[in-house]
Amino acid sequence: MPAFTATAPGKIILFGEHAVVYGQPAIAVPVMQVRARATITPDIRGNAGAVRILAPDIGLDKMLDELDSAHALVAAIEGVTSLLGVTHIPACTLKVSSSIPVASGLGSGAAVSVAVIRALAGYLGKPLPNEQVSALAYEVEKIYHGTPSGIDNTVIAYAHPVYFVRSLTPGPSPAGRGEKPTIETFTIAKPFTIIIADTGISSPTKETVGDVRRGWELEPARYERLFAAIGSITRAVRQAIEGGHPERLGPLMNENHELLGEMGVASPELDRLVFAAQESGALGAKLSGGGRGGNMIALAAAGSEAQICASLQNAGATHTIVTRLGD
Ligand code: MEV
Repeated sequence: MPAFTATAPGKIILFGEHAVVYGQPAIAVPVMQVRARATITPDIRGNAGAVRILAPDIGLDKMLDELDSAHALVAAIEGVTSLLGVTHIPACTLKVSSSIPVASGLGSGAAVSVAVIRALAGYLGKPLPNEQVSALAYEVEKIYHGTPSGIDNTVIAYAHPVYFVRSLTPGPSPAGRGEKPTIETFTIAKPFTIIIADTGISSPTKETVGDVRRGWELEPARYERLFAAIGSITRAVRQAIEGGHPERLGPLMNENHELLGEMGVASPELDRLVFAAQESGALGAKLSGGGRGGNMIALAAAGSEAQICASLQNAGATHTIVTRLGD
């Protein structure tokens, strides 16, 4: 069996985070500058089932059967073997690495899952289509995120911009079962540039998603108004992108950031970066992903990228990425 490598990009949510968990649309795009990578190398002397897991970034070097059964890598591997009906994986080493910052809203967990699922299916000689890769990664997301919408695994598995609507089964919980989300691609009629800036503060999505959920349980009407307002913004954004008016996204970003603040997922550090971007020529800015830390995004007018990046760094950003969409 030959060695097999698969990679998966990071992602950024442009509009609709949190509201998407409650059935509103969201728009997300892959971030190709950062990637997770999984390589499987056969170990010709090993016994079937002897799978060594190496993840130098997190200091992990263990055999698969030494890991907790709830470990994300175990869940991803078992998802593949059970789908493909494989009882023993031919002896191998799985090496995982990633340049995606963890717990920062760039989808590091989902990207690792997608890369591992693809590499293992390929190694076993049964490559999986994107839809199945995404569905398996979603099962892993559920272990870590409680009630994920599924947008992260979708945009990362398909590696193209998506307009995503979760389908909710009726009931008191947003964690619908047997979901089949609506996943639409859309045309970016006129390219535009987004700057991504990291607060450097790690903020697990599970916590912010859980806090929003508690807020929604306490004040359902207020939260549902916020979700609906974000949904309207996201629909307007899609029209603007498809209609060739990306500059209209700026004020909509500012508005979406305010609504996320009312939901309790902004933070002084995120607000500082959003303000710095707005003051240095960005057409608009907002937090992106779970919030409280992690990344924010800004819409750059042509030629203002360097100025905005410098201002974001002065305001405390630990890292900035300039990404052009639609080229
Ligand atoms: C996380 O990238 C986006 C959230 O909307 C959670 C989710 O959709 O699962 C905060």
